[in-house]
Amino acid sequence: MLTEREIHKIRSRFPIFSRKIYLNSCSQGALSDVVEAGIQEYLRTWHDAGSPWDLWVQKYEAVRAEFARLIAAQPDEVAIVPSASAGINSIASTFDFTARKKVVLGEFEFPTMGHVWLAQQRRGAVVEFIQAHGDEITPSSYARALDKQTAVVPVTHVCFKNGFRCDVQEITRMAHVQGALVFLDDYQDCGTRPINIKSLGVDFYVSGTLKYLLAAPGLAFLYVRQDLISSLTPTISGWFAQSNPFAFDVQHLDLAPAARRFESGTPPIPNLYAASAGIALLQEIGLENIEAQIRLLAQTLIAGARELGIHIKSPLSTVGPLVVLQCQNVEAVIARLAERNIVVSGRHDGLRVSFHVHNTLEDVQEVLRALKGCLDLMVREHQPA
Ligand SMILES: Cc1ncc(COP(=O)(O)O)c(C=O)c1O
Repeated sequence: MLTEREIHKIRSRFPIFSRKIYLNSCSQGALSDVVEAGIQEYLRTWHDAGSPWDLWVQKYEAVRAEFARLIAAQPDEVAIVPSASAGINSIASTFDFTARKKVVLGEFEFPTMGHVWLAQQRRGAVVEFIQAHGDEITPSSYARALDKQTAVVPVTHVCFKNGFRCDVQEITRMAHVQGALVFLDDYQDCGTRPINIKSLGVDFYVSGTLKYLLAAPGLAFLYVRQDLISSLTPTISGWFAQSNPFAFDVQHLDLAPAARRFESGTPPIPNLYAASAGIALLQEIGLENIEAQIRLLAQTLIAGARELGIHIKSPLSTVGPLVVLQCQNVEAVIARLAERNIVVSGRHDGLRVSFHVHNTLEDVQEVLRALKGCLDLMVREHQPA
């Protein structure tokens, strides 16, 4: 657990905190001095050498290895893609939906997950959505939908609109019993606690860099379990997916034996410099420390919101970095908080307050003070004591 002094030192590396109380990592991570320096470093290499592609390709491979280490995978199991959607699309294109047609996913998925698999209906996919019970989707709901017709189970680790964290291991176990593959979308959790992809047991995993990995938009990582890679042939491709992109052979498709086969074109080099710095910062702080700080902040907000009688959408037993409070008028609440320089966001009727290691208990108290001033706009369970 980090001391208050250590947290303040980390916070001082994020210039936005001199002006704002930033609680919107679920949308975009705050910019740190090291990530800014990473982007400057990219510009310097470009200025200095004009077209240092050897260096940039080295950086691309280095970042692949850095992300692999973060999730305890092998570099060969990681593809570098421009967005989570691009990674999901590449995998979706490998399915032929003949022996198994069903795609089973919960209604808490980020919309892109629905869109990618719904677009596969033309290729034979049958998409089945699992309904939530209130703000939860339990493994038993998955159990009812899974069968020998199920090809893949996309599942979001933390829901973007209510913060619910699903039981990935149990869902994966049940899907595997039926012979289905599991695709974890970890965008709302990656960077907030240690990850061991092997113990999660999933077959595919995707996360991007712009949220809790503290970097820029335009870069995501796709993990594919080693023993699956060579059996999957994407129909979305390009020169960076080939065994040797620099063979410049237009007439042959020679897909890389590694997860790079799920890539397509020129990698987003500036974003790689940013991501490398963001991942290094998280590693330096320590993922266990980050997890502990986030838990403390989330629990403190929950306790305070309960005292105020505010309805909390995030199921209390699964709470992660994102705490969502129910509003009658979410836009008005966001505007009131903005008057106090608090940056949060909203989805549907939920006010999203998301924590990272740079946030403090004082941030939470300031949010609670602000909420006290707009209880008329919140959904209440009871009057404050
Ligand atoms: C859980 C989750 N998955 C996927 C995405 C979208 O990723 P991309 O825009 O990189 O495709 C988001 C973005 O907010 C998200 O929260």
